[in-house]
Amino acid sequence: MRKINVALVGLGFGGAFAGIYKAHPNVGELTLCDTNPDVLKKTCDYIGGARAVESFEAVLADPAIDAVHLVTPIPLHADQTVAALEAGKHCACTVPMATSLEDIRRIVKAKRRSGKNYMMMETTLYTYQFFYAKRMKETGELGKIQFFRGSHYQDMAGWPDYWMGLPPMWYGTHAIAPMVALSGSRICRVNAFGSGSMDEALVRRYGNPFPVESALFEFESGVKGEATRSLFETARMYQEGMFVYGSKKSFEWGFCDGDAPVITTLHEPEGMGRGRATDCETTPMPNYYADLPEALWRFTVGGNYDPLNPQDSLKKGAGGGHHGSHAHLVHEFVMSCVEERKPWIDEHLGGNITAAGICAHESALRNGEPVIVPKF
Ligand SMILES: NC(=O)c1ccc[n+]([C@@H]2O[C@H](COP(=O)([O-])OP(=O)(O)OC[C@H]3O[C@@H](n4cnc5c(N)ncnc54)[C@H](O)[C@@H]3O)[C@@H](O)[C@H]2O)c1
Repeated sequence: MRKINVALVGLGFGGAFAGIYKAHPNVGELTLCDTNPDVLKKTCDYIGGARAVESFEAVLADPAIDAVHLVTPIPLHADQTVAALEAGKHCACTVPMATSLEDIRRIVKAKRRSGKNYMMMETTLYTYQFFYAKRMKETGELGKIQFFRGSHYQDMAGWPDYWMGLPPMWYGTHAIAPMVALSGSRICRVNAFGSGSMDEALVRRYGNPFPVESALFEFESGVKGEATRSLFETARMYQEGMFVYGSKKSFEWGFCDGDAPVITTLHEPEGMGRGRATDCETTPMPNYYADLPEALWRFTVGGNYDPLNPQDSLKKGAGGGHHGSHAHLVHEFVMSCVEERKPWIDEHLGGNITAAGICAHESALRNGEPVIVPKF
């Protein structure tokens, strides 16, 4: 069996992936990297040992490392991705891919020059809910897709500095990605508005005045989708929601992030009455673990990984945060390198999802003017 050596860089949220790489049958040596020695040691202990390095430069300089997975702070994503590709390593990076169109272009160029893989590690595209809605589309249960909606409501008070005042749509990927993937097409245009106001201290860092942004996206296929993103001073239960409206059935995320989705059915017309009957059903999601190597099954269930308390996460059987997606992301990245093929969320798909959000923020700053989303 072909194996690759992987370095996981940034072990806050990134710590949730450490045990999965260690258990993956196609991963040889696992290197963990964090500039914080305490976090590095705790994570190594948590998974029962791994090679530990404290600098990203040491990862780049090591010819034995084939692939790098970055889970570092947002402002580092673009430069570190380009550096990893230029060092001749496959590179996966957590979301967002970048925060400017120019940086997405740099990544696409570096990827092309290197001939290595790039994957954006978008959790929403490997959730139980996404697999279920994808199956509804493929079996024809949804009928024609008429409209999409996406949401991501999360309060970021107290998060690290670089989050403070971040333009909401710069991190719109969780709300946008399922729409793009299910449309089977790319977003080509966006009109967006920003709404509300927030503490002046939050506005300064990025010159972003909005705690909430809402965007209407046009897909090349002609379908439209709306996404709303809130980050600050907005009272809403946490939700990374996906909503798909079909001509026969619709899929709507539950009110809270962990609630079961609601499937609505539009019945065939009966007699001459006004309007067709609908009914809806709250539907528990199956776990799509069977596509994974058996050693990864256990990582598709359990609560959220707590980076400040990894040992407790272990006791609770955690690792299945983000609705079972982590193990699927790792598997797709590793196998794309092993099988020498492109990963599904490559620089084109990841680039469109990320650029749509960047362009949405630009439109919001111009009070809803349409912005064309460039092709990558
Ligand atoms: N669902 C998702 O996809 C999801 C969820 C949470 C976070 N994220 C993304 O994951 C990233 C990390 O989130 P977080 O909450 O852990 O952030 P964080 O800032 O709390 O932690 C980042 C970690 O990276 C380490 N680090 C910083 N610079 C480094 C460097 N140069 N080399 C090596 N390590 C370095 C830090 O010491 C820290 O342990 C963010 O970019 C965020 O956007 C994605």
